[in-house]
Amino acid sequence: MAILIGTLVLARRFGSSSFFHGFLVAVGVFLSLDIVVVHWIFRLHRVTAGPEANVIEPILVAFGVGFVIYGLRRERRSSVTPRRRERGRTGCRGRPAPRPRRTPAAGTRRKDATMTTNGPVQRLSTPRRIDRRAALGRLLALTLLVPPAVGVLTGCGHRDQPGMGDGGMPGWMMSGYQMMDAQMMADMPAIHDLLVRHDTIRRQVDDIEGGIRARTTSDPSIAQLIQTHVQQMKARIETGTPIRQMDPLFREIFEHHGAITMTVSQIPGGVEVTETSSNPQVALLIRQHAHHAVSEFVARGTDRAMRPTPLPAGYRD
Ligand code: HEM
Repeated sequence: MAILIGTLVLARRFGSSSFFHGFLVAVGVFLSLDIVVVHWIFRLHRVTAGPEANVIEPILVAFGVGFVIYGLRRERRSSVTPRRRERGRTGCRGRPAPRPRRTPAAGTRRKDATMTTNGPVQRLSTPRRIDRRAALGRLLALTLLVPPAVGVLTGCGHRDQPGMGDGGMPGWMMSGYQMMDAQMMADMPAIHDLLVRHDTIRRQVDDIEGGIRARTTSDPSIAQLIQTHVQQMKARIETGTPIRQMDPLFREIFEHHGAITMTVSQIPGGVEVTETSSNPQVALLIRQHAHHAVSEFVARGTDRAMRPTPLPAGYRD
């Protein structure tokens, strides 16, 4: 909140009024759209982990909409006023400005003090016009300024926030730097749908030497999602492209991704996955993931996904 207020004060102090109004509108659009689309529609994360998010987020959206309306109205008013002033000088709307007096022909001028002793002409202060280049410059400045400011405000960049280890998890889908991970956006729909339809999924996990063998199945449409998700996650494990980095278990898994072997076979209704490691510590991570992450996601859906997964007993990094 302090950063948002700080950036608003700076924009007001050092920018023109148009810049400030544009800044307000941009902050407002980002604030409201981010929460409505990313938090509420895609459910990628919340402002906070607890139920207070249900109060804070609507307030932020209301502020965002308020910023947009206020910024637009003020900008329109401030761009209309100088035009009116200018019109006042040149004539009223609809009525032509008075025609300039014709200058008397040379030699016919009367020796009139009022006509011959014009003082220096004062420059008219015309409203400042913004050319296209300046407007683009300001737009660029806004684009660079707004995301970090609002990101911090809304908690979008919440890496390593307090409360992680004690059950409070502000974001359950973080990759390394979540806003930039296009792969995460591609993987998200399957994960989201699996969590929403979790009660249609059946799962059996057996411990084997060095890891687990798990069969996860469902109706045909969900089976397709399971297969897609597992292929996507297998690719992440193989390439070491992390996801859900706010969760200590997932962080450890991706740190040791090179020690994990994962084989996937399609079975009717879903997949059978064998996941092992020759490193006994990594085998603990694999089992913890299978029993206490995936199986619990299947049992409890999104509510469980909002919580982190503890590291397995006996695990030492
Ligand atoms: C109901 C929801 C979900 C289902 C049914 C599901 C299913 C699976 C399955 C079958 C596997 C193969 C490993 C195993 O069977 O134990 C897997 C692996 C994986 N899933 Fe999910 N998953 C779900 C939710 C999530 C969520 C919310 C995330 C993270 C945001 C996630 C990330 C991963 C990762 C990173 C792997 C590979 C890591 C590993 O297997 O060690 N999954 N998932």
